Amino acid sequence: MAQIQQLENLPFIEYGTLTVDPVNNQHVYFKLNDSKTYLIELSEEGYAERVTRSFPTNSPYKRFRQGVSDAFKISTCARLKHIYRRQNVRDFASFCDSSRLRSIAPKVTQSVKENYRLVQKTLAESPVNGFGFRHLKSEHSDYYIAEDPTQESYCVPKKPIKDSVSGRSKEVCALSKELVALKTREEKYNFVAKVYRNRQALVKKAEESPAVCKSQIVSPSMVICENGGKDLHESLLKSYRRLTPSVFKNVCEFVAQQHSNNIILGDIKSENCVKKGVGEQVRLIDLDDMRPLTAAPLSLDLGTETLLTDNLFTKLVEGEKQAYFNADNYALLLTMMECSSFSIRHELDPNFLRVRPQVSVCNSRNTSSFSNWINKNILEPYRPAVIEFIKNPSVHTLPKSIFELMDWDNCQVTY
Ligand SMILES: Nc1ncnc2c1ncn2[C@@H]1O[C@H](COP(=O)(O)OP(=O)(O)O)[C@@H](O)[C@H]1O
Ligand SMILES: [Mg+2]
Repeated sequence: MAQIQQLENLPFIEYGTLTVDPVNNQHVYFKLNDSKTYLIELSEEGYAERVTRSFPTNSPYKRFRQGVSDAFKISTCARLKHIYRRQNVRDFASFCDSSRLRSIAPKVTQSVKENYRLVQKTLAESPVNGFGFRHLKSEHSDYYIAEDPTQESYCVPKKPIKDSVSGRSKEVCALSKELVALKTREEKYNFVAKVYRNRQALVKKAEESPAVCKSQIVSPSMVICENGGKDLHESLLKSYRRLTPSVFKNVCEFVAQQHSNNIILGDIKSENCVKKGVGEQVRLIDLDDMRPLTAAPLSLDLGTETLLTDNLFTKLVEGEKQAYFNADNYALLLTMMECSSFSIRHELDPNFLRVRPQVSVCNSRNTSSFSNWINKNILEPYRPAVIEFIKNPSVHTLPKSIFELMDWDNCQVTY
């Protein structure tokens, strides 16, 4: 893999020196060591066109140098790619040669040019991986430069993050307001280019839904996703907060659409649901187990133990078609319930629960909290059927999708 030590020294992308105007990304602030900051206008493609104005480098412009996000780095990375794509040093050189900059900092502009050529050369020499990205490593960051000009490029800082969240197979290794980078925890969980290229069409189609966070695999061990906020397990189940079930409306509609196309989700749970601020809808992440029902199971992990029953599990192993839909619906209903009801949350707490009960969680315990939730949130005519389903999802099937069964206008939290 290519090593470019000097990448961070490149004044053009060094984030202590250059920041994108957060309001108008057609501008960047460029700081030179003459204690001045320059506002530079960018072309559509991200080339520096002209220096618009300059001001002394003290507050408020100092703020731009602080808290500089990955988003900046990423957009800079995209610019780098554009320059590289064009194979045209002239635009860049003319930026460096612009009389104002050259007269102020001839040494800096010279090193910009040299570093730029080095980056360009290193990029050209590094191979394109199975996911269409060139992987460049520097001391502080990993750069994933897309081969496809319409595709975004990414910069993943190597800075470790405190209390990193992880799932069964991936862990968060970099985080910004906009993006989450996840690394596979072990080699056995690595993405296999061939398998995942085949899955791309399915996943990309699903990501058109507002109920799903966009994602992009950039190497066999790295996926970069839109930051959808905290996952519900993390943000909710450890606190005393509850959400109204209506925040799941988009997710329920999405699951219903997928089921009507014979596609199953396979791994619905609170850890795979994320949400941003108040009033925002929940969105799904981690579609690794999503697949057409006709396809052989991708793995033997057939769902989450606590959101599946023994009898359903047996039917999944036997390949019973209806059981796959029921397993998704059961997991989705329980996830919605646990996020909107204290008592159900305790019923589902792994410390209280027998993992993968024979019949269903609500059979082994007090059914009243489940019926209470159903009476408050399911449209009246369907309540008995939903109660039967919750009691034994391997025998009973929902009469309609959860999206159609919910009383969206009146749903509420329960105790
Ligand atoms: N797009 C995202 N937005 C916010 N958090 C995320 C996102 N993707 C993953 N995470 C966090 O990382 C955890 C693990 O990611 P996930 O894709 O579910 O991996 P795994 O396959 O290991 O379950 C999630 O439970 C969540 O806390
Ligand atoms: Mg997950």
